[in-house]
Amino acid sequence: MRLDIRLHFEFGARLPAQALKDIPILLEEANQGILKKGCPKGKEEEASEVKEWRVEGANLFLRILSGRYVRAHHAVKRIRNFLSENMGKKYKTGIRKVFIDRFEIQYELDREPEKEITLPFVQKIEIRSNTAYLELENLPEDLLESGIDRLLDLLEDKIKRQSYGGKAEHWEILWESPQREPIWTGDPTQEMIKRGWVVRYLPGIWYHSFTSSKIMRTIEQICLEELLSPIGFQEVIIPKVTPFNIWLKTGHMPGSAPSIFYISQPKSWDPEFWEDLSDHVKITGEIPMKLLAEKIKEPLGGACYAQCPPLYSIFERQLLDEDDMPLKFFDRSGPSYRYEAGGLHGIERDTEFHRIELVWFGSKEQALQIKDQIMEKYKHIFNEIMELEWRTAWVTPWYMAQTGEKGVEEAKEKGTIDFEGWLPWRGNRKESEWLEFQNLTVAGTKFSDAFKFKIRPGKEVWTGCSGIGLERWMSVFLSQKGLDPKNWPESFRGYLSSLPKEPKTLKL
Ligand code: SER
Ligand code: ZN
Repeated sequence: MRLDIRLHFEFGARLPAQALKDIPILLEEANQGILKKGCPKGKEEEASEVKEWRVEGANLFLRILSGRYVRAHHAVKRIRNFLSENMGKKYKTGIRKVFIDRFEIQYELDREPEKEITLPFVQKIEIRSNTAYLELENLPEDLLESGIDRLLDLLEDKIKRQSYGGKAEHWEILWESPQREPIWTGDPTQEMIKRGWVVRYLPGIWYHSFTSSKIMRTIEQICLEELLSPIGFQEVIIPKVTPFNIWLKTGHMPGSAPSIFYISQPKSWDPEFWEDLSDHVKITGEIPMKLLAEKIKEPLGGACYAQCPPLYSIFERQLLDEDDMPLKFFDRSGPSYRYEAGGLHGIERDTEFHRIELVWFGSKEQALQIKDQIMEKYKHIFNEIMELEWRTAWVTPWYMAQTGEKGVEEAKEKGTIDFEGWLPWRGNRKESEWLEFQNLTVAGTKFSDAFKFKIRPGKEVWTGCSGIGLERWMSVFLSQKGLDPKNWPESFRGYLSSLPKEPKTLKL
C-alpha cells in the first residue's frame, strides 16, 4: 500500500517570514514523533511522512506519503492539530480549512476484478497486475477519518462479489421429513383463481376472498394454539413504516435497496398547495405525475420488509431487566412488501405477503432454548397436523442475505434455518425447487449491538426471530393436499373441515 496526499491548510492570515523558518523544524519533529506514533516496531518507514511543503500567502501546502501504518489520511488530522498547537499562538492565526487537493492510492489486491469497477469519490481507477491505482481529487475532509478505509474495503468487496458472480447462496440440508404421497400434482394458484378464492390485483399482490382468507386464518389459529400460547409468546403491534435510520443499522440499506417499497409524505397538507394538481385531475381525469412528484417529500423510508427491525429500534439504548427475560413477542399486524421484478408468479411468491413474526430476547442460553422449543412445535405442526413433506436447511442468515452478503455462520449456534416444502406441481421431489415457507434465526448479539440494548447492569442480549409465511404455508399445504377438505389430514380438518361459498361472477 502506498498513499500519497497533497493538501493545503488555509490559515486565517498570511503566514509571516518567521514561519518559513519554523515550519521545516516543526515538520521534522512531527515526522519523527506524532506521525510514527502507534506504528509497529520495525515498520517505521511505512508510517506517514511529510515529504514536501511550501507556503503561498495564507496557505501551507503539504505532501504526505505513507505505507500501511499511520496511513496518510489519518496523518492529516494529527498534523493539523500539531501545527495548530505550535503555530496558532505564535502567529496569532489558526488553520481555518483543510483542502485535500489530490489523493493517490496504490493498493494491493488479492485478485484482479473480472470487469470494470466504479467507486464513489474516485476519479480514476486503474488495475495492473494485482495493484489498484486510485486517483481522488478535491476530497471532502470528513472522508479521511474512516471513509477512505471503507472505500478500500468496498473495492475488495466488489471484486470478491464479481467472482462469486452467480454462485448460489449457501444451502446445506439439515433434516428431512418422511416422504408423503401427494393428493394431486396441480398448481393451486390456477385452481384457486378458477374457484374465486383469489384474484390477481397487481403484480405479486392478491385479493384473498372468503376461502383463502379462512385457510390463512386457520394457519394462524394453529400457530396460536400449538406454538405461540404454549411457549408464552405475547402479541405486539409493530409499526409497518420503516424509516431509513433503522435500515441503516440493520444493513437493509443499502443491501435491500432494489426491493424496497419506498414511502413519501406530502410536502404540505394545505389544500391550496394541492390545488393545481386537483384542478388538473378534475379536467383531464388523469394524474399529472410530474407535478405530483414535486408535491411529495423525499422518501422517509419504506414499507415493512422484515417485521423485527422496528421492534429492535423500540429497545434502542434500553437496559432490560433480568427478571423480564426472556421476552417473547409476536406480530401479525400487517403485510410485508418486497418488490420483485419479472413475470407472473402464483401465490407462493408475492410482493405483498402476510407473516407472523416471532421475536425473542434473552441470554444466549435462553435464546437457544427457545429456538429448540419452537423447532419442536413446528415439527409437531408439520408432521402431525398438516402432514407435510418438508425439510430444513442451513442457509445464509437473513441478516446477511438482506444486507447483500453471501456467507454462512459456521458454528451452528447463530444463523438461519429455512423450512422448505415440496411443491409436487413443480416436479419430482429430487429435482424440483422446493418452496421456502418460513425461517428461524438466532442472530446472537447482532441486533442488540446495532441498537445498543443490554440486560442490566451490562449483560449481552441474544435475539432470535422466525417468520411464518401464511401464503407460503397455504401454498405448500394445498400443493400437497389439494383443494378439497375431504382429502385433508384429519387433524387439520379438526381446525377447518368445510369451506365458505364464494360469490359467482361473470365478466362483463
Ligand atoms: N426477519 C426475518 C426475515 O425477514 C424473519 O421473518 O426473514
Ligand atoms: Zn426477523
